[in-house]
Amino acid sequence: MTQRAIGIFDSGVGGLTVLREVRSLLPEEQLIYFGDTARVPYGTKSPVTVERYALEAAEFLVSKGVKLLVVACNTASAVALPALKRHFDLPVVGVIEPGARRALAVSRNRHVGVIGTEGTVKSEAYVRALRQLDAAVQVSSAACPLFVPLAEEGWAEHEVAHLAAREYLAPLVDARVDTLVLGCTHYPLLKSTLAHVLGDAVQLVDSAAETALTVAAQLREHGLERADSGGPPAYYVSDVPTRFERVGSHFLGHSLGEVQQVTVG
Ligand code: DGL
Repeated sequence: MTQRAIGIFDSGVGGLTVLREVRSLLPEEQLIYFGDTARVPYGTKSPVTVERYALEAAEFLVSKGVKLLVVACNTASAVALPALKRHFDLPVVGVIEPGARRALAVSRNRHVGVIGTEGTVKSEAYVRALRQLDAAVQVSSAACPLFVPLAEEGWAEHEVAHLAAREYLAPLVDARVDTLVLGCTHYPLLKSTLAHVLGDAVQLVDSAAETALTVAAQLREHGLERADSGGPPAYYVSDVPTRFERVGSHFLGHSLGEVQQVTVG
């Protein structure tokens, strides 16, 4: 069982930010990544549709014999985690709870900001996760739909990204949040822009980095840690791989190697 891979899925390329963190924390583990590029974005779709897509993506990874499943997509974690946990008999790690936990560890004024896709914000999954950990926490959320295409365009630090960030974040600055959860796969790429717009008074919480820590803890807890090296990640997508390869190599800072197209669902 320890020799099996960890399965990671996302709606597309964004989940590579989670893969990068898992790989840097757990370099021995073999990773299998699935990006549902034929059906991206998930962030604008209804919870029922996202749940169906998530179950099909997970089914594909489970058919590859993975030992643990990481739901890298915030939108899928927000609406499909209970269904995934019910359907599959293996540890399933989402990105919401780890981000919420970290936010509460660093917030001093107990007022946390959350940014994500429309679907993630509408689901209030972060609000519930934060309140479950601290019933008195105040939460202010904002959907930032333009950040996804900006990151994919390689414009995360462009003037346009700064303008968009100032618009989106103004209500959170006015509400005086002291911590901001980056509740979307793409947002870690915008960290320096967000930090510049928000200044030192607001701490940024990277859900991807926190999720990697949870994956490590789950492997330990279930006795699933691998001792020898599992080799490079395997990449699968549901549409032609060209764009995934190009944007993915920009996200990771190196080329991905072979990416295979598969049909799911
Ligand atoms: N991966 C999605 C998320 O983290 C962003 C892209 C999409 O909308 O599918 O919510």
